[in-house]
Amino acid sequence: MTEATTTPEPGGDASLKRPLIAGNWKMNGDLGANQSLIAYLVEAIAEHTLSAHCDVAIAAPAVYLAQAQALCAGTGIQVAAQDVSQHDKGAYTGEVSAAMLRDFGLRYCIVGHSERRQYHHENDALVAKKAAAVLAQGITPIVCVGETLAEREAGSTQDVVKRQLAAVVNVLGRCTGEMVLAYEPVWAIGTGQTATPEQAQEVHSLLRAQLCAAVGEQGAARIRILYGGSMNPSNATLLLQQPDIDGGLIGGASLKASDFIQIIQAAQS
Ligand code: PGA
Repeated sequence: MTEATTTPEPGGDASLKRPLIAGNWKMNGDLGANQSLIAYLVEAIAEHTLSAHCDVAIAAPAVYLAQAQALCAGTGIQVAAQDVSQHDKGAYTGEVSAAMLRDFGLRYCIVGHSERRQYHHENDALVAKKAAAVLAQGITPIVCVGETLAEREAGSTQDVVKRQLAAVVNVLGRCTGEMVLAYEPVWAIGTGQTATPEQAQEVHSLLRAQLCAAVGEQGAARIRILYGGSMNPSNATLLLQQPDIDGGLIGGASLKASDFIQIIQAAQS
């Protein structure tokens, strides 16, 4: 690992990266609803040439990944998984391996979402193993970090996100540059209470500096840091204008086709 000696410019060189707007469907959808939602997105993205300046992804539930991948093929929409096993294969009932995700040509996989950390007791070490497992299969991990309300109120936001990111950087080493990072304050997820652009930028710039120390200024500038947590058409523009916010991880609003499209449009302005 290279120690950086300089402080990165906010956001680095914007020309090096395209924004990424990723929809996290969570445990929602069915065959019919997925088909309608994807058909709407495909048409709107083509009509407004939205994939020209922005990467778009949808993270579907595991059983619908094949359907989503088939419907999105050749459309410019990438498909993501929402989770993965840290194991390669074997007696792990119910688990899906990174190699299985690669079989379907998936581009991204979310790891360390706060709902997995909270409800499935995933810790920093496990999240790092999952990130490494997908990278080894050529899939880009979207690594989620973020503090709870209690942690923010205790003034430990910076310590928490730094600890969560450090665990991943320590395992990925130079490959850290291959990941996407998502800052998702837990208190903003699904609550309608979004972080202010200033609150989000403050954490994003801290994360960027930490990435800079790990992979150098240029490498850190290329890593997209998404904001997630009640992003919607009314707050997306200001959030996405922040120098260190390179896209969004969208939950609820990604299930409403027109809202999701408006957020993609906001990423282009
Ligand atoms: P939300 O979810 O947009 O519904 O707050 C974001 C996420 O959990 O990724």
